Amino acid sequence: MDLGRHLFYDKKLSGDNSMACGNCHLQENAFTDPNQFSVGIHQMSGRRNSMALFNIAYHRDGFFWDGRVANLRSQVLMPIEDPLELDADLDAVIIKLEADPMYVEKFTAAFGDEEITRERIGLALEQFGFSIISKDSKYDQYLQGLASLTASEERGRQLFFTEHRPNDPDNSGADCFHCHGGALFTNNLFMDNGLDTIFGTDTDKGLYEFTNSTFDIGKFKVPSLRNIEHSGPYMHDGRFTTLEEVVEHYNSGSVESPNLDPNMHAIVDHGLGLSEQDKTDLVAFLKTLSDDVLRTNPEYASPF
Ligand code: HEC
Ligand code: HEC
Repeated sequence: MDLGRHLFYDKKLSGDNSMACGNCHLQENAFTDPNQFSVGIHQMSGRRNSMALFNIAYHRDGFFWDGRVANLRSQVLMPIEDPLELDADLDAVIIKLEADPMYVEKFTAAFGDEEITRERIGLALEQFGFSIISKDSKYDQYLQGLASLTASEERGRQLFFTEHRPNDPDNSGADCFHCHGGALFTNNLFMDNGLDTIFGTDTDKGLYEFTNSTFDIGKFKVPSLRNIEHSGPYMHDGRFTTLEEVVEHYNSGSVESPNLDPNMHAIVDHGLGLSEQDKTDLVAFLKTLSDDVLRTNPEYASPF
C-alpha cells in the first residue's frame, strides 16, 4: 500500500515527469477531478469526466464509465500509457524507478526482491486503490445511532428510498435507491438514465463501445453517490455542475432514451413531480453522504 501510494502520486509515471494519477484523482474531491475534462500531459483532454476512487475493491462489473476493463490491476496501467493522460512508455517508467533507491527498497519490501515489472506496478497501484475506503459519512453515523438527521435531511432520505408512484402523489418518492442503493450507494451495474435521446456519431455510447451490443447504447457505470457533494461535475461527461441540476434532470421527465432503464419508464414526460422543498430536501440528504475522513486521511495523501 505504501509503495502503491508513492506510485499514485509520482510524476515519474508520466512521459515528461509532469503529472501523476493524483493530478486527475484529487483526494479533496473524493479522488476525482473538479474539471469537466481532465487535461493530460500534452494539454489535451479526453471526452469523459474523471471518476471518483473509493470503495473500488467492491466493484464487480468492470472499470471505467463503459466497463471495458475487468480488473483493477490491468486498469491502473492504462492511464500510464494513454496518450491523453500520462503518455509514458512503461518500460521507460521502469528504468526511471530502477534508478531510484527508494523504489528499489520499496519493491523489495513489497515483493521480496528488487525486480520492477509491469505486473508489480499494477499490483501495487491496485493495492493502494483497494485501500481507499469511504465509510465515515454523517449518514453512516446516523445508521449507527451516533448522529441525527435534520428534518430536511430526513425528508430527503425518505424521498431517496421511496418508489415513484404517479397515481399516489402523497406517497410518491424520488426513486433513487433502485440504482444508487445499498451500502455503496451504487448497484455496480451499467444503466441508461436518460441523458441522451439521440445518439449521433459523436455521442458517447458508453457500454456499447465495449460490447458492441445495441442494447448497451447509452448505458454507463452507475456511480456511487457517496461524497457526491465533492465529486462534481456530474455524469460521464461532467455536463451538470450542481446537484440541483442533477435532480432537475430526473425531475424534468425529459429522459427518453433507447435503452432507458425500466425503473425510469414511469417518469418519461411526467417527471418525478418534486416540489421545490422536495428538491432541497433531496439535495440535503445527498450531502449527508460526504465523508471528510476520506478526504483528509493522511494515509491516502501524497507522500511527496
Ligand atoms: C489525465 C487525467 C487522468 C490521469 C492522469 C489518470 N486518470 Fe484515472 N481516470 C481518468 C478519467 C477521465 C477516467 C474515466 C475514463 C473512462 O471511463 O474512459 C478515469 C478512470 C479511472 C479508474 C476507473 C474507476 C472506476 O470506477 O471504474 C481508475 C481505477 C483510475 N482512473 C485510476 C487511475 C490511476 C491508478 C492512474 C495513474 C496510473 C490514473 N487513473 C491516472 C482520468 C485520469
Ligand atoms: C435507472 C437507474 C438510475 C436511477 C433510478 C437514478 N440514477 Fe442517478 N445515475 C444513474 C446512472 C447510470 C448514472 C451515470 C450516467 C452517466 O454518467 O452517463 C447516474 C448518475 C448520477 C449522478 C452523477 C454521479 C457522478 O459521479 O457523476 C448523480 C448525482 C445521481 N445519478 C443522482 C441520482 C438521484 C438523486 C436519483 C433519484 C432522483 C437518481 N440518481 C436515480 C442511474 C440512475
